[in-house]
Amino acid sequence: MIVLGIETSCDETAAAVVEDGRKILSNVVSSQIKLHRKYGGVVPELASRKHTESIVPVTRAALSQASLSLDEIHGIAVTQGPGLVGSLLIGVSFAKSISYVKEIPLVGVNHLEGHLSAIFLEENGCAFPFVALVVSGGHTNLYRVMGHGDYQLLGQTRDDAAGEAFDKVAKFLNLGYPGGMIIDKLAKQGNPKKIKFPRAFISRDSLDFSFSGIKTSVVNYINKMDAPPTLEDKKDIVAGFQEAVVDILTIKALRAVEQTGINRLVLAGGVACNSHLRSVITEMAKKRGITVHIPPPILCTDNGAMIATVGYHRLKKGMESSLDMNVLSRWPKEKK
Ligand code: KG4
Ligand code: ZN
Repeated sequence: MIVLGIETSCDETAAAVVEDGRKILSNVVSSQIKLHRKYGGVVPELASRKHTESIVPVTRAALSQASLSLDEIHGIAVTQGPGLVGSLLIGVSFAKSISYVKEIPLVGVNHLEGHLSAIFLEENGCAFPFVALVVSGGHTNLYRVMGHGDYQLLGQTRDDAAGEAFDKVAKFLNLGYPGGMIIDKLAKQGNPKKIKFPRAFISRDSLDFSFSGIKTSVVNYINKMDAPPTLEDKKDIVAGFQEAVVDILTIKALRAVEQTGINRLVLAGGVACNSHLRSVITEMAKKRGITVHIPPPILCTDNGAMIATVGYHRLKKGMESSLDMNVLSRWPKEKK
């Protein structure tokens, strides 16, 4: 079954063609970074307008790179939520139109299920059950994943998402946008032990996260400095900040493995591109005999291939969406 996956939940217009939920025939992502950079964050209205411009060329490129026409597509999967309403609407309306005109089955997909399913696009995938840590710009969620479409939320952030904390700290330090990638690079040149930022663990058994405290302590640290931070100061600040975030993410993920007794861990979402997180989690897990699966960076950030994978498994079960499907800015707890 060949599925076209469409993703427009935030600031990336993406389309991909995937065969049988595993084999990527094409994966096209048009980033809006340049557009939002001068504002230091995503401007929802601008994002929707840009999606409107990009959705047709991006989908055409995905089909052409896969050497397929719409007549050879068996299913269309589109991100239904969570995300920015205006952005989601562009992808969903577009997917509905081609589904209607070409009579191709349509399915709405949860963006976060997309992230945790990106691992199936890798050669060896991951066996069920596994624990998944989805760390993105909007979410920091831990899941127990029993099967395709069968997952349970174990913990989540109570305030900022991990990616949001990266972006806010970068913005405060005038480092540019998007912050995660910039901090990742700059932190390599800093001393992570120079400034120790607090780690919020909530309670020993909790699998929830909190990142607003670290962000605030970075701001307080800078405000208390005698002079504005130099580039050298900034390197140490972001290295200390990143170390704290990675510590929390790693400890909670390993705690989830311990609590569930499932010793397979999948890391997903944009923050899973972070080189320090990738190496620390891999090393810590190895010491404990836990297998870690992390998709390559291109499949960690938003893309259409992960949406196509989820869509494939849903369509295979006959779970089509109707043309009156609506977008969901927040995904309801009871909806799978
Ligand atoms: O999954 P994603 O592409 O979009 C959302 O669903 O939010 O994640 C974007 C987030 C941003 O906050 C970005 O700063 C962060 O992922 N990010 C990183 C890195 N690359 C992207 N954070 C830390 N280190 C990175 N290398
Ligand atoms: Zn995402």
